[in-house]
Amino acid sequence: MSKILEIRDLKAAAKRRVPKMFFDYADSGAWTEGTYRANEEDFSKIRLRQRVLVDMTNRSLESTMIGQKVSMPLALSPTGLTGMQHADGEMLAAQAAEEFGVPFTLSTMSICSIEDVASVTTKPFWFQLYVMRDRDFVKNLIDRAKAAKCSALVLTLDLQILGQRHKDLRNGLSAPPKFTPKHIWQMATRPLWCMQMLQTKRRSFGNIVGHAKNVSDLSSLSVWTAEQFDPRLSWENVAEIKEMWGGPLILKGILDVEDAKMAARTGADAIIVSNHGGRQLDGAPSSISMLPKIVDAVGDTIEVHMDGGIRSGQDVLKAIALGAKGTYIGRPFLYGLGAGGKAGVTLALNIIRKELDITMALCGKRDIKDINRDVIAE
Ligand SMILES: Cc1cc2nc3c(=O)[nH]c(=O)nc-3n(C[C@H](O)[C@H](O)[C@H](O)COP(=O)(O)O)c2cc1C
Repeated sequence: MSKILEIRDLKAAAKRRVPKMFFDYADSGAWTEGTYRANEEDFSKIRLRQRVLVDMTNRSLESTMIGQKVSMPLALSPTGLTGMQHADGEMLAAQAAEEFGVPFTLSTMSICSIEDVASVTTKPFWFQLYVMRDRDFVKNLIDRAKAAKCSALVLTLDLQILGQRHKDLRNGLSAPPKFTPKHIWQMATRPLWCMQMLQTKRRSFGNIVGHAKNVSDLSSLSVWTAEQFDPRLSWENVAEIKEMWGGPLILKGILDVEDAKMAARTGADAIIVSNHGGRQLDGAPSSISMLPKIVDAVGDTIEVHMDGGIRSGQDVLKAIALGAKGTYIGRPFLYGLGAGGKAGVTLALNIIRKELDITMALCGKRDIKDINRDVIAE
C-alpha cells in the first residue's frame, strides 16, 4: 500500500479487492447520482486563503464532538453491510478508529453486532439507530447499545423509505450474497476477499438475526427489513427515542433550515447536516452547500456536524471553516477497509490527518479550534 497517497488511490485498490456488487454498493447514489456527485464537486469549488510568514509550529488538530475528545474533528459514519467490504469489517474499522482517537459509529444494518464490536474495543463507540415499526425491537436495540456502553446514539431521520440505487438492483445485492453464476463469478475473481470471508461466521445482519421476532433465517430477514422501516416517523417519535436512550443524542440527515430549527428544539446534542451521501433524495443540494445556512440558523443553539463528499483533509478544514464542529467520512473509510482491512482504515485516517494539518498550516493557523470563515477566500 506504499503507493497510496490519497483517498482516490484507496478507492482504486478497493475496486480490485472487493466483489463488484459490494464495491458498487459503497460507490453509488440514488437515481442519477447527481447529489452524490455534487457532495464532492461543491467542496472543490471552495477556495482557501493562502497566508504567509505566520508561526506554524506546534499545531493541534485536537477538538471535541458533543463534548467528547477527538484527535481530529472527524468520525466514521454509520454504514450498512460494512462487514461485506472486508470480513469482520465493523470490528476492524472500530479498532482503527479507537487507536486513532476518533469516534466509530456502528450502523443498525451492520454485519458485526453491537456485542461483536464491544468485544474488540476498549473505549465507547457510537451506535446509529433506524427506527423500525417493531418498537420492542427498537427498545431492545437501545438496551443493547446501553449495555455495550455506547457513548452516543445517532438517530437517522432521512431513511423512512429507501431511495433507489440502480447499481444495487442491477447487481442483485444481498447479504450474504446469492449464489447465481454472476455472483459466484464476481466473488471468484476476488480470492483474498473470499478466503477472509470463509474464515468468519459473520455474513448476515448481526444486530437483527436472532433478535427480531420471526427472523431466524435469510428469507425471513429480507421480508422483515422491507416491511420494517417506519414511514410514519415523526418529531414525537424523536422525543420518545430521546427519552428511551437518555444519553447523548445526534440527529442525522438534516438538510433543510426549517428541519434544523425543529431538530434544535428537541434538545438533542448535535445534528448532522447530511443527505445520506447522495443515496436518498437525488436532486437534493450538497451537504456542504447547506452547511453555512444551517449554521447561521441554529449554530448558537445546537452543535452542527456534517457529512457527505469529504475526500481529503482539505474538505474537513472547509467544513470546519463553514461552521461544522465535527465531520464524518463514509466511503473513504470503506475504501480503506476494502483495500486493506484495519490497516487500510488507519491509512485513510492518516491521509486525511496529514492533509488537514498541512492545509491548516498553509492557511496560517495552528489550532483547529481557531478555524472559522476567515480561512475561506472570497
Ligand atoms: C455503503 C453505505 C452504507 C450506508 N449505510 C448507512 C446506514 O446504515 N445508516 C446511516 O445512517 N447512514 C448510512 N450511510 C450514509 C453514511 O452514514 C453517510 O451519511 C455518508 O456515507 C456520508 O457521505 P460520504 O460517503 O461521501 O462520506 C451509508 C453510506 C454508504 C456509502
